[in-house]
Amino acid sequence: MYSTLLTAISNHILTITINRPDKLNALNKQVFNDLDALFTEVYNNAEIRSVIITGAGTKSFVAGADIVEFKDFSPEQGKALSLRGHQVFAKIENCPKPVVAAVNGFALGGGCELAMSCHFRIAAKNATFGQPEVNLGLLPGYGATQRLVQLIGKAKAMELLFTAAMINAEEALQLGLVNYVVDENELLSKAADILSLVNTKSPNAIAHCIIAANAVFDESQNGYQIEADAFGECFQTPEMKEGVSAFLEKRKPDFNK
Ligand code: COA
Repeated sequence: MYSTLLTAISNHILTITINRPDKLNALNKQVFNDLDALFTEVYNNAEIRSVIITGAGTKSFVAGADIVEFKDFSPEQGKALSLRGHQVFAKIENCPKPVVAAVNGFALGGGCELAMSCHFRIAAKNATFGQPEVNLGLLPGYGATQRLVQLIGKAKAMELLFTAAMINAEEALQLGLVNYVVDENELLSKAADILSLVNTKSPNAIAHCIIAANAVFDESQNGYQIEADAFGECFQTPEMKEGVSAFLEKRKPDFNK
């Protein structure tokens, strides 16, 4: 159904594998179309409670935007490509269900930007991160000038943007770009373990955590107001009744009855 993506659902966790291994999973137009359509399904399919994004093969998560595809673009086409990336990655960032990047190798350019649009990242020991666009006479076009600064701070982000340096998984961990570094063969199970725990929590509360936390980076929104409104709304939800009842009855809540 999705020509550039593999999908598998297990235990309500959807694993999305970007599947162009011969091109190190570079993001072409079709990958964006497929991700856009698949995330519409993620938003709407109640069977999916959380998502892992990874890359096919052992070498690369995603090695960037497909350079061959854009090499002869006009300025208008370049801008449209950037805006398309912004739109699809915002759809991932604003997904009401947790999305984790399982970074298995190169996460360069658009690959690093895709990982940064996820809610958090887990890296395999062989992961490499970088924004090499300045080597191509470009700046990042899919959000790195914003999200890299948000995630690791302006000074270190500027250094990485200016130098096109590639950093390994341990450096990414120290910078706060990834939450964990694990052996390559434990990458997907680590992500699944965390999401299995997350999937036992209140989906409505998590969706509101995502909205409120994302508001930190949106000057047009007041995150505290969003938090207060959402907190108030929770008091009329079956999930809040279940969570509080379970606490008082000394049992585990079941939010997916
Ligand atoms: N766009 C299009 N094709 C890409 C690509 C990209 N971003 N990254 C890798 N590929 C292709 C290569 O062209 C090659 O295709 P070919 O076999 O048809 O020649 C294939 O993937 C394997 O890549 P290769 O360069 O041979 O692997 P490597 O191990 O020698 O080097 C990288 C790996 C990641 C260091 C190197 O591929 C690279 O620098 N890629 C571009 C990274 C980048 O600049 N990304 C930002 C783009 S805006």
